[in-house]
Amino acid sequence: ARFLTLIALVALVMAGCEEPTMSVLDPKGTVAEKQLGLIQLSVYIMTLVCVVVIGIFVYVLIRFRAKPGDNSIPEQVEGNTKLEILWTVIPIILLAIFAVPTVQKTFSLAEEAPENGDALRVKVTAHQYWWEFEYPDLDITTAQEMVIPTGERVYLELESKDVVHSFWVPKLAGKQDLIPGRTNTMWLDAHEPGVYKGRCAELCGASHALMNFEVIAQEPQEFEQWVEERQNPSSEPQNAQEAAGKEVFTQNCMSCHAIDGTDLKTSGDQGPNLAGFGNREKIAGLLEFNDENLEEWLKHPEEIKPGTYMPSFDYLSDEDMDNLKEYLKSLQ
Ligand code: CUA
Repeated sequence: ARFLTLIALVALVMAGCEEPTMSVLDPKGTVAEKQLGLIQLSVYIMTLVCVVVIGIFVYVLIRFRAKPGDNSIPEQVEGNTKLEILWTVIPIILLAIFAVPTVQKTFSLAEEAPENGDALRVKVTAHQYWWEFEYPDLDITTAQEMVIPTGERVYLELESKDVVHSFWVPKLAGKQDLIPGRTNTMWLDAHEPGVYKGRCAELCGASHALMNFEVIAQEPQEFEQWVEERQNPSSEPQNAQEAAGKEVFTQNCMSCHAIDGTDLKTSGDQGPNLAGFGNREKIAGLLEFNDENLEEWLKHPEEIKPGTYMPSFDYLSDEDMDNLKEYLKSLQ
């Protein structure tokens, strides 16, 4: 009973840890559904193998156990051609049962890939440790949050600026590596609106585990609206404080960060494009969006994301910091 309680407790703790929106067992897109089918098939086959092997093992243990008073040496067997053929052929058949649908699905997913051009295209670029999302046909660049319409295939071109990363949205699709110097492709769709958590699935440095992003799926109508907003951002300072903040930005931030839709559209591209920053759900892809976290990030990025290229801005005066925050939050 104590053991069962322990198991129950562990299960409870694990259930608490698991983010409800990150399970491959709860697919919300075509690709993830097909992948789940393969996972289930392999689990069935492995369960069958376990049951049969353990069954035979237990049977042999009992059937041929040493009996009291019997000290004779059992019959010595050296090889059995029939058995050896049998236990070679069975795994081959099992592997074939698994391989055929795997290859089939791989090809059918490739065939279903929308042709470049008539589908929504998003160029995904991985950086240590953040994600850039570019919509080349819509002239939109954003970071950390990829917005897509539901019920439509989205064609992704995956590239990396530095080391190998891997794109994974457990509920929708993945994984696909992003490799410096080459373009990989994949596609995904989302059946229903929602926020789908994404992770980097390839060890890429100190902050690999913090390289989070989100896919935000919206009804097509809402998505159109988002496109409209992104193409016509309201990012010009609305008051004196925001204007002062913009001044701080141009002196400290624009060598790395551009802001689409403003006169800072073509400044540095080392860091994420901050267009629409004020609308984002997270800061740096992982912190809750609020004032303290924004300041914490600006002052001590290295403590939050070890190895980040974002320098610390704790030398800014309190006034400059407040103005800068106001300006960043005003980017809609
Ligand atoms: Cu990028 Cu791990």
